Amino acid sequence: MPGKTLLWDQTLFRRGELFEFDHVPEHFAHRDSQFKSLIFGVRPALQGMRPLNMLCVGPPGTGKTTAVRKAFEELCEHASGVITAHVNCQASQTRYTIFSQIFHSLIGHAPPTSGVSFKKILDEIAKYLVGNEKILIVALDDINYLFHEKEADNVLYSLLRAHETHPGTKIGVIAILSDDSLSYVFDPKVGSIFLPEEILFPRYAWDEIKSILSDRAKLGFYPGVLSPDVLDVIVDYTSEAGDLRVGIDLLKRSALNAEERADTSISEDDVRLAYKKSRMLHLSRMIASLGSGEQAILIILAKRAEAKEQAGKEGGGKEVVKTEQTAGDLYAAFHESTGLGYTRFHAMLHKLATLRLIDAEIATEGVHGRSRRITLKYGFGDVLGAMQPRSL
Ligand SMILES: Nc1ncnc2c1ncn2[C@@H]1O[C@H](COP(=O)(O)OP(=O)(O)OP(=O)(O)O)[C@@H](O)[C@H]1O
Ligand SMILES: [Mg+2]
Repeated sequence: MPGKTLLWDQTLFRRGELFEFDHVPEHFAHRDSQFKSLIFGVRPALQGMRPLNMLCVGPPGTGKTTAVRKAFEELCEHASGVITAHVNCQASQTRYTIFSQIFHSLIGHAPPTSGVSFKKILDEIAKYLVGNEKILIVALDDINYLFHEKEADNVLYSLLRAHETHPGTKIGVIAILSDDSLSYVFDPKVGSIFLPEEILFPRYAWDEIKSILSDRAKLGFYPGVLSPDVLDVIVDYTSEAGDLRVGIDLLKRSALNAEERADTSISEDDVRLAYKKSRMLHLSRMIASLGSGEQAILIILAKRAEAKEQAGKEGGGKEVVKTEQTAGDLYAAFHESTGLGYTRFHAMLHKLATLRLIDAEIATEGVHGRSRRITLKYGFGDVLGAMQPRSL
C-alpha cells in the first residue's frame, strides 16, 4: 500500500484537456510563415473563386494538422460561402469512405450505408455545393495512407475533376503529408491538375519546443508544478525525438506520475519514467506510416538483434554470436523477403535514417574494406511491439 495519496479533488492539472492531441491550441507560435501561406491559398474562396491547392509536408509532430485546423477555423468565421472538410486518411483509407466523410461534413449525417454507389455520393455532394452556392475545401490529412493501389490519385482526380463531371462545383484540396522524403510520385493525370503550393513544416528548434511546451504547461498546470529545470529535461527528450507530440505526452504522463507519488510538482524521475511510454507513441506512429518494404527492414533488424541476444544468453555470455548487420547482409535478407532491388533498398535505408529509426554509419572493416553498419535506434522489443498488422 502506498503511504501517501492525493485526495480525489487534488490535482496538478488546471486544464487537463490541453494535453490531449486533438486540442487545437489558442497560441500557435513559430508557424507564422506556414500559416500565412495557408491563408493566402484559401483566400480566393472569399471572392467566390476556387482556392489554391496546397501540400503541407513535414515530419511527425511539426504542426501540420494544427495549422490546417486553425486556418479552417479562421476561414469559417469570415466566409459563409465556404465549407471545410477535414478527412483523416488513416481512418478512411478508400475513395468511398473519404467521400462518405465529406458527405457527412456537408450534410450533417453519413450517407445510407448499403447500396449507395460512389457516383451517387459524389452527385449528392456536388448538388449540395451548387444548390447552396458553397465552395468546398477538403483537407486530406496523412494522405500517405492512400498511397496504396493509387487510391490517392483516384481521390484527387475525383475531387479536382468534379467541376467537369458536375458543372459549377468549386473544390480545393489541401493534402498533408507526414514524410521527409517525397517518395510518392502522383500519376501524371493527377499531377497536371493538382499542382499544389508546397508548404514546408521543418522540425521545431530546441528553443521553439521550449516556448511551446512552457506555454502549454503554464495554461494547463497549476503554478509551481513544473520547474524550469524539469522543463529543460522534457525539451531535451522532445528535441531528440523531433516530435512535439512526445513533449505534450511527456507533460501529461510526468504530471500523472507525480500525482501517483502524491507530490505537487514533477521530478526528473517522473519525466524519465514517462519517457519510456512517450517514446513508444512516436515510434508506433512512425512505423504505422511506413511502407511494407521499410517495415520489412525494421523487422529483419529487430529479429536479428533478438536472435543475437538469445544466443548471448544461451551461451552463458561466454561466446557472443556475431550477427552481421552490414548493409550488404541486410540487403540479402531484404531481397529474399520482399523481392525488391538494391535501389529501392537504398532509398528505404535513407528514409529510415532520416526518420531516426536507424543509424547507418560507415564502418572501416579491415579486409572487407568499407561497409555500412546498420543499427536500430530503438530496442528490438519496442520495434516488434509497435509493429501492428497492416490494415490493407
Ligand atoms: N506551434 C505550435 N504551438 C502549439 N502547439 C503546437 C504547435 N505545433 C504543434 N503543436 C501541438 O503539437 C501536437 C502535434 O501537432 P500536429 O498534430 O499539428 O502535428 P502534425 O505535423 O500534424 O503531426 P503528424 O504528421 O504526426 O500528424 C498537437 O497536439 C499540437 O497541439
Ligand atoms: Mg497530423
